[in-house]
Amino acid sequence: MNNDSLVKDFMNIFKEDEGIYTFFAPGRVNLIGEHTDYNGGHVFPCALNFGTYALVRKREDSKFRMVSKNFGNLGIIEADINSLTYSEEDDWANYPKGIIKTFKDAGYLIDKGLEVLFFGNIPNGAGLSSSASIELVMSIAIRSLFSLNIDMIEMVKLSQKSENEFNGVNCGIMDQFACGMGRKDHAILLDTNTLDYEYAPIKSDEISIIIANTNKRRSLADSKYNERRSQCENALKALQKKLKITCLGDLSEEEFEKNKYLIQNEIERKRAKHAVYENQRTIKAVKALKEGNIELFGKFMNESHISLRDDYEVTGIELDTLVEAAWESGAIGSRMTGAGFGGCTVSLVRNSEIEKFIKKVGEKYEKEIGHKGDFYVASIGDGARQV
Ligand code: GLA
Repeated sequence: MNNDSLVKDFMNIFKEDEGIYTFFAPGRVNLIGEHTDYNGGHVFPCALNFGTYALVRKREDSKFRMVSKNFGNLGIIEADINSLTYSEEDDWANYPKGIIKTFKDAGYLIDKGLEVLFFGNIPNGAGLSSSASIELVMSIAIRSLFSLNIDMIEMVKLSQKSENEFNGVNCGIMDQFACGMGRKDHAILLDTNTLDYEYAPIKSDEISIIIANTNKRRSLADSKYNERRSQCENALKALQKKLKITCLGDLSEEEFEKNKYLIQNEIERKRAKHAVYENQRTIKAVKALKEGNIELFGKFMNESHISLRDDYEVTGIELDTLVEAAWESGAIGSRMTGAGFGGCTVSLVRNSEIEKFIKKVGEKYEKEIGHKGDFYVASIGDGARQV
């Protein structure tokens, strides 16, 4: 991305050319560990090299003026940093507004307004965490401009809190963590229960991560997401009648099998099964990867998809078609990624086979679904930073 052209845009819109700083936060893709982060399980995401840029300038008054190049039709959105409330018509701008409010409520001193120009190059509605990238880019911008004494993990936590409480989206911590803490050429194994984490290298000289976009809008995603969350909560409550556990991530597969009779509702039992098995699968998959067994890692990715399709029921015809086409076209592993109900799949593909893979999967998808998918060869980048 050319920073000079963004600076020009900033000057055209805000008529100011001094004191402008540029920040960037990436989107993310999750390799394995899906719908585990709100169940106290493990996730294994990495940050991408596309994301959201923010050009920021401090004002002398308390006005907060924001514009997004991606939503140019909405123009400049204005707020006052001392009275920030959610408002439907402010659309995307509720994310940065939520960050300022959440930081202020947590006691951080933000006593001046801002002008901000956002630009994102994450494909729209693809489920690659454009909202978390806005939250994190705003977080590091205000940390820098107001010299706040706060570390990245704390900003990650506040960003999740902001999305939960200000925006009313009940997400876990994975997206914010990956966007904030990502490291070039590494994925992050995060225990969402303890927030212990470690980086695992992903070797790009042999394999690539291919993201395939169903180009299906994730309609109903939020309500179904919240429904899955509460089904897991109910299952946990049922298990807690006998077991001393704080989350589904506390259970091994054996413990689950022995005690699943406690969950009377069949659907809730299936949801819990996914959460327990997916967590254990993620730990095993990362172990295989560390031992250089990429084939086994791929096999776990495939199993993850099957579990998300049959037990968690968050896939759908578009995601299933892309994944099945990937399995038939030489992928080492392939699965849906993110919340599901549309969005993207993630596949591991040998570098020598990328072109053939994209052609074959693309053709099959278009033939069966009736519209094109998009393909991106992912580069794993660093987390949120000043540029
Ligand atoms: C969304 C949420 C994450 C996580 C995934 C599913 O991306 O924001 O917290 O729950 O879905 O793994």
